[in-house]
Amino acid sequence: MAKILVTGGLGYIGSHTVVELQQNGYEVVIVDNLSNSEIKVLDGIEAITGIRPHFEQLDICDDKAFQVCLTKHNGIDAVIHFAASKAVGESVEKSLDYYRNNVYGLIQLLTLMRKNDIKHIIFSSSCTVYGQAEQLPIDETAPRQTATSPYGNTKQMCEDIIRDAIISYHDFNAILLRYFNPIGAHPSAMIGELPKGVPNNLVPYITQTAAGLRKELSVFGDDYNTPDGSAIRDYIYVVDLAKAHVKAMQRLLSGSNKSDCEIFNLGTGSGVSVLELVNTFMEATGVNLPYKIVGRRAGDIEQVWADSSYAEKELGWTAKTPLAEVLNSAWNWEKKVRNIQ
Ligand code: NAD
Ligand code: WQD
Repeated sequence: MAKILVTGGLGYIGSHTVVELQQNGYEVVIVDNLSNSEIKVLDGIEAITGIRPHFEQLDICDDKAFQVCLTKHNGIDAVIHFAASKAVGESVEKSLDYYRNNVYGLIQLLTLMRKNDIKHIIFSSSCTVYGQAEQLPIDETAPRQTATSPYGNTKQMCEDIIRDAIISYHDFNAILLRYFNPIGAHPSAMIGELPKGVPNNLVPYITQTAAGLRKELSVFGDDYNTPDGSAIRDYIYVVDLAKAHVKAMQRLLSGSNKSDCEIFNLGTGSGVSVLELVNTFMEATGVNLPYKIVGRRAGDIEQVWADSSYAEKELGWTAKTPLAEVLNSAWNWEKKVRNIQ
């Protein structure tokens, strides 16, 4: 079975994807510098799959260490590239760090892929590249819009770098996966999201509030042009998202891709408002969630959700897990992390 290098494989989406890869028979080599993850995630992966993936702690920007790793684990067939910094607000404060880690890191990776004759890459892109799209739902032909943060800009630049590398070096091919809003945790509660400090994202803030770590959730805005006034997103279960990577990998390795650089939107196809999500969380878990309405968060867009029909048609993939089940998985994970019965 094929050997897959997973950069950032101890992170949130990476760890869930490693589980699915292993459960589909792939051999996995993880590289991660632990800048936003913990080594014990390896134990969680092993507890679920019964297999401890190969792991090398290194920074992908360190080409010497990276080459040593590729020599040691020779015979890599493809890469899934998750390793990146991802906090939108922090990227405004530390833009050069973001360009170095996300853009330079990708250039190093592609350079080493060439040197080591690795031809296939799946890249973690984001719905952020679409900004506030004029038409909803958003399909892959929607134009990208000028990025509103250095983070968003790195995703656009990385997509372009991959596209150009494919033109320069004909034997490369890639699948760019544009994720909408990944949420939830593995149903085993052995792995999940581990935000450092105060969470920026909605679901970890909700679960930490429910666990008593935060006093109340602030709902950012109830004056949007949406049915209940709160902003709308397409929340996709991280396990469904992970499964899409397996489908994309099968496609690349079997050569059934239709072009050398394919793009897929990965979402549920439905938009959910912040207030709907809060209410679903309370109904699903039976936990009361204190919240207050505050002003809009700077830089937030009003509403986005995916048209995922291309992924359904071409990958044979849909995100089916009901939101209540997804939110329960996030709550079960939070309870496990906080030792709540
Ligand atoms: P994460 O921070 O949990 O995982 C990223 C992992 O990469 C971490 O384990 C981190 O330690 C590692 N890493 C970072 N820089 C590295 C480097 N230079 N060398 C080696 N390891 C490094 O993030 P995530 O939520 O799992 O996101 C994974 C990818 O998906 C990222 O590229 C992110 O931009 C993208 N993405 C995430 C979301 C989201 O909402 N979570 C949405 C769209 C796209
Ligand atoms: C969701 C909704 C908030 C926190 C981010 C990145 C995007 C992509 C996915 C990487 C919004 C509201 C949030 C809170 C709230 N990541 N909210 N109170 O901003 O849609 O997307 O993650 O590529 O690039 O920007 O996700 O989870 O932060 O917010 O009311 O305490 O919840 O205003 O409407 P977002 P989010």
